[in-house]
Amino acid sequence: MVKNKILVVGGAGYIGSHVNKALNAAGYETVVFDNLSAGHKRLVRWGEFFKGDLSRPGDLARCFRRHNFDAVMHFAAFVKVEESVAEPAKYYRNNVANTLNLLDAMQASGVDKLIFSSTAAVYGEPVRNPINEDHPLSPVNPYGRTKLICEQIMADYCVAYGIQYVALRYFNASGSDPDGEIGPLHEEITHLIPLVLDAAIGRRPCVKVFGSDYKTPDGTCLRDYIHVGDLASAHLLALNYLQKGGKSDYFNLGNGLGFSVLDVIKAAKYVTGRKIPVKISARRPGDPAWLVAASTKARKVLGWKPQYAEIETIIRHAWEWHEAERAQRGN
Ligand code: UFG
Repeated sequence: MVKNKILVVGGAGYIGSHVNKALNAAGYETVVFDNLSAGHKRLVRWGEFFKGDLSRPGDLARCFRRHNFDAVMHFAAFVKVEESVAEPAKYYRNNVANTLNLLDAMQASGVDKLIFSSTAAVYGEPVRNPINEDHPLSPVNPYGRTKLICEQIMADYCVAYGIQYVALRYFNASGSDPDGEIGPLHEEITHLIPLVLDAAIGRRPCVKVFGSDYKTPDGTCLRDYIHVGDLASAHLLALNYLQKGGKSDYFNLGNGLGFSVLDVIKAAKYVTGRKIPVKISARRPGDPAWLVAASTKARKVLGWKPQYAEIETIIRHAWEWHEAERAQRGN
């Protein structure tokens, strides 16, 4: 019999909360394990909540004793590239050592399926685009390295202890729940789309475009923006794949479409109907010119098909959430 209780580690965060919603909508029971250091209790609207910290094996042991999980999804990680360069210890400890604690707890309680949040940052500076899973793995910052190390650890745990895993390598996660029930709650915004929306309402004076002299059609960087709802559907398919006996594997998740920084700003002007002042600025260190996914493998093996590929749709959902949040906060 297929068991249906899933542990969602980091389910109070941006991507984890969307996947938690999708799991519950599909009839799974979930337990969200989160220390709320970056997540928000407000986003845990489905399933049970367990306040716990991955750095404390005792928390994990209690949680695994209390529930009989079929699989684990692991979203809990620090994700800021620049911060990872300045504070690598924080990243290796949280992203790598804490993942080891989770894997050990799984092994101790006989849970043998894991869906892991990985990233396009494992590829580093691309040698070709679109990037498929055979592209060389050469991360250029500690954040990307922590994720690659976790993938390698999972491969070893798979061989030695039989834990099957799927690593999903996200490109630029963006957008928000189409129903408007949950969305990103960032205190410190660093990603392009939320920054552009803040400039649209005048909370920021302008959007700084980091570099306009790249070898791209309009000189600004191209990225593959993938809707968080499409990431969520990929997680359910990956879970189904493992539950049916699929072997450990890794998949890129992106639309295969590159939008430049200026494309994003133009689409945001259209969606919001606002003026968005732009300031062409210096390049940001470490930004590759193009990062576009080839996701043929996820489509073929998992049967994944993104539903919200248009950049306007991604921005519209982000905007609706942004405005609802603003109305609630009164700013
Ligand atoms: N950008 C600007 N101005 C800003 C912010 C961003 O021009 O104020 C540009 C960036 O230079 C980049 C693009 O907008 O070209 C997207 O930048 P984001 O910071 O939104 O996202 P990144 O592409 O840098 O990062 C994403 C993920 C990371 C992951 C990385 C590499 O968020 O977790 O892709 O795959 F590591």
